[in-house]
Amino acid sequence: MTLRPTWAEVNLEAIQRNFLWVKSVVAADTSVMGVIKADGYGHGAIEVAKALEQVEVPYLGVSSLDEAIELRQAGIQTPILILGSVLPDLHPISGDPLLPTFTFTVCTLDVAKILQQEARKQQCPIRIHIKVDTGMGRLGVWYEQAAKWIKDMAQFDSLQLEGIYTHFANMDERDIHSTLEQIGRFSWLLETLEVQEMPTRYRHAANSLAVIRLPASHFNMVRPGIMLYGVWPASEDLSDLEQVPLSPAFSLKSRIVFLKHTPEGRHLGYGGTYTTQRSTRIATLPIGYGDGYPVALSNKAKVLLRGVQAPVVGKVSMDQTLIDVGHISGVQVGDEVVLIGSQGEQQISIEDVSRWAGRIPYEFLCGITQRVPRVYCPSLTPAY
Ligand SMILES: Cc1ncc(COP(=O)(O)O)c(C=O)c1O
Repeated sequence: MTLRPTWAEVNLEAIQRNFLWVKSVVAADTSVMGVIKADGYGHGAIEVAKALEQVEVPYLGVSSLDEAIELRQAGIQTPILILGSVLPDLHPISGDPLLPTFTFTVCTLDVAKILQQEARKQQCPIRIHIKVDTGMGRLGVWYEQAAKWIKDMAQFDSLQLEGIYTHFANMDERDIHSTLEQIGRFSWLLETLEVQEMPTRYRHAANSLAVIRLPASHFNMVRPGIMLYGVWPASEDLSDLEQVPLSPAFSLKSRIVFLKHTPEGRHLGYGGTYTTQRSTRIATLPIGYGDGYPVALSNKAKVLLRGVQAPVVGKVSMDQTLIDVGHISGVQVGDEVVLIGSQGEQQISIEDVSRWAGRIPYEFLCGITQRVPRVYCPSLTPAY
């Protein structure tokens, strides 16, 4: 903990519970990859990976080689799929024995070539998953060309084709028509590969929402990210979807560092965007946009203090945020304030603050900066 009293609490047990819930709803022969890219969606990839290893996660997904290296150097043993594409130049780490411990996403021959060279150099096969674009229009080989393309990959005899996957573009929409089309294209490709006797061990497509909404998308591996952190993966448009028992893992907390009586009619903060309507008490919290608590929350967000909601007043600045506490008795400097999480009977969720800020929860979580120390709650014992 730093001396500045602003911190995030990460409940690793909640993450383990969410993972086990996903495991309980997919078929017994379907593996659950834990997606922990972007520093575990801001929760801390190393700690999340360790917690998931305790509940026997079979695979982890990260976005880049750097993220994968960080995990291995921290002692993580689980297979790791790098979901992003590496550049066809591994020069800076060529020959590093860590390289063959990773599984690479491949969708260009140049990357296949460089991995093949590396595998030969290290005399160790390298595992790859081929990414197929069935409609996202981003990373991946277009599905129409994929069967031939994968056949051509046979020339790279030091690469072990372990998986094939795709990613959905519109899972968040009420109309699942285009996702069903993507599933159809992917299934057609898998059948073609079966016929050509090129089956792969892992076939995967589903992110969190697909885990919940579309069992037909599970194939034999799913890739949930946001739901592992206890965040409801759908936008408000889908609020009528049957809720699933997710446990929120992330809380954001601070303490009052300054408190003063403020008369009616005073303008608060940069630009004086808030004017007190009565004599009140205004508390200063040592948190601001430098911590990832966005300016967009100015005069919109609420926080919890002594089990009661208090409004954010004035503009959120880089390091400080003001709250009106005039309606709460006994408030003192040093009181704990919950900006995300629960206190007493009250709760402010990531979904709430993201909505107030006009962001998506993914963005909000990834935006909490490194200045905010993460404090971990103990995770389950391996016996769980
Ligand atoms: C390729 C891939 N798979 C899975 C996920 C996990 O998605 P979600 O966090 O919506 O479950 C992501 C996240 O963006 C992704 O890029």
